[in-house]
Amino acid sequence: MKEKVVLAYSGGLDTSVAIKWIAETYGYDVIALAIDIGMEKNYPAIQQRGLDVGAIKSLVIDARETFVKEYVFRAIQANALYEGEYPLATALARPLIAKLLVDVAHQEGATAVAHGCTGKGNDQVRFDVSINALDPKLKIIAPAREWGMTREEEITYAKKHSIAIPVTSESPYSVDENLWGRSIECGVLENPWTEPPEDIYGYTKSAKDAPDEPTYVEIGFEKGVPVSLDGNVMDGVSLIDRVAELAGGHGVGRIDNLENRLVGIKSREIYEAPAATVLLKAHRALEALAFSRDQQRFKEIVTQTYSNLIYDGLWFGSLRYDLDAYIGSSQRFVTGVVRMKLHKGNAVVVGRKSPYSLYDLSLATYDEGDVFDQRASLGFIHIWGLPLTIQAQAQWGNQPE
Ligand code: ARG
Repeated sequence: MKEKVVLAYSGGLDTSVAIKWIAETYGYDVIALAIDIGMEKNYPAIQQRGLDVGAIKSLVIDARETFVKEYVFRAIQANALYEGEYPLATALARPLIAKLLVDVAHQEGATAVAHGCTGKGNDQVRFDVSINALDPKLKIIAPAREWGMTREEEITYAKKHSIAIPVTSESPYSVDENLWGRSIECGVLENPWTEPPEDIYGYTKSAKDAPDEPTYVEIGFEKGVPVSLDGNVMDGVSLIDRVAELAGGHGVGRIDNLENRLVGIKSREIYEAPAATVLLKAHRALEALAFSRDQQRFKEIVTQTYSNLIYDGLWFGSLRYDLDAYIGSSQRFVTGVVRMKLHKGNAVVVGRKSPYSLYDLSLATYDEGDVFDQRASLGFIHIWGLPLTIQAQAQWGNQPE
C-alpha cells in the first residue's frame, strides 16, 4: 500500500500541479484538503477538480466558525496588529490550516502533509513550525519550495499532465484571502514607490466612489468579543461579514505597508481589512473606557508581543497560551457599545459606553457639578515633581569636567 499525504488544496494552478508532482516525485497517494475560511469560492467545483487532477480523495472543511472563535476573536481581544499596521489575516489562518492538515492526516492514516508555499515567505515557516509542534513525526512536503519551476514551466507541466489551466487570465498578483482580510503582493506592487492600481482591490471600494453620506454602526462587545451590530445579536462569522461589507463599501480598510518579514526580507504588502480595521478600533475604544491607565500601558506591551508571535508562526507555543490567560482576564469588563462613523475611507469612533466605564463626568467636567478638588493638585504636583527638583538643584550647572 502506498503512503498517504494530505495537501492543503486551493484549486489553483500551483496546488493542482502539486497533486501530480507529489504523486510522481514521492509516489504518495494524495488527499486534497480545501478549507473554507471565508473566501467566496465554488467548493464543490474545487473538490471535483482535486479528483480530476489525481487526488485519491478530495475533502472540504468549512472552518469559518473555528477561525473566528479561536483565532480572530483572540486577535481582537489582543488588539493584534503587526508593526502597528497589518491585522494579520494571512498569518492567523496558517496555524488553523496546519492543525486541520494534521487532524486529517491522523484520521486518514497519512504519514505526510503538504502545502503550496514557496521558500521565500513567512507562510512556509508558519506551516512548518505549527505542523512540527502538533506532530513532529509527520513529514512535510512543500512542492513549490522544492521543484524550482518557473510559471512557464509549471504551465508546461500542467499541459503535459492534462491539468486544466484556469481560463481566467492569471492575475499578476499573489493574493491570499479570508474573512479577516486580503493580502496582495507581486507585480507592480514590488516597487514601493508605485501607487497600487485600483484593480488589485476586492473587498473595498475606492473612497472616491464611496457614498457621500456616512453610515453609523454600533458594535456591541461582551468581554472583548463583538456580539452585536446595531443592537442585533449576531454570530461571529455573520457579524464580521456584515461589518466588512459596510466598511468596504465606504472604502475603509486599505493598508499599504512596507514590512519586515520573518525570513529577513523587507517587502511591500497591500492589505484590505475592512472588518478588522473597524472592529480593532472599536475594541480599543472600549478598553480605553474600561481599563485603568496602568492596564492600558501594560496591554500595549502584550499587544506587541502577541502580534509578533502570530506573525512569527509561534501560535502553538506556550507564550501564546500564557498571554491568552492574561488577555482573557483583562477582558472581564470590556463590555459595552461603540459607535463608529464610516465615511470616505475612514472609520472613526464617535461614541462609546459601558456599564463598567471608569469615565466619571463629575470629575472630568469643566462645567457645573465639578467635584474634583483643584487645591489638592498643589501637593500632588510638589511630590510628583520632587525628584526632578532635587536633581536640577544638585546637578545642573554643576557638571563634572
Ligand atoms: N506578508 C503577509 C504575511 O506574511 C501576507 C502574505 C500573503 N501571502 C500570499 N501568498 N500572498 O502574513
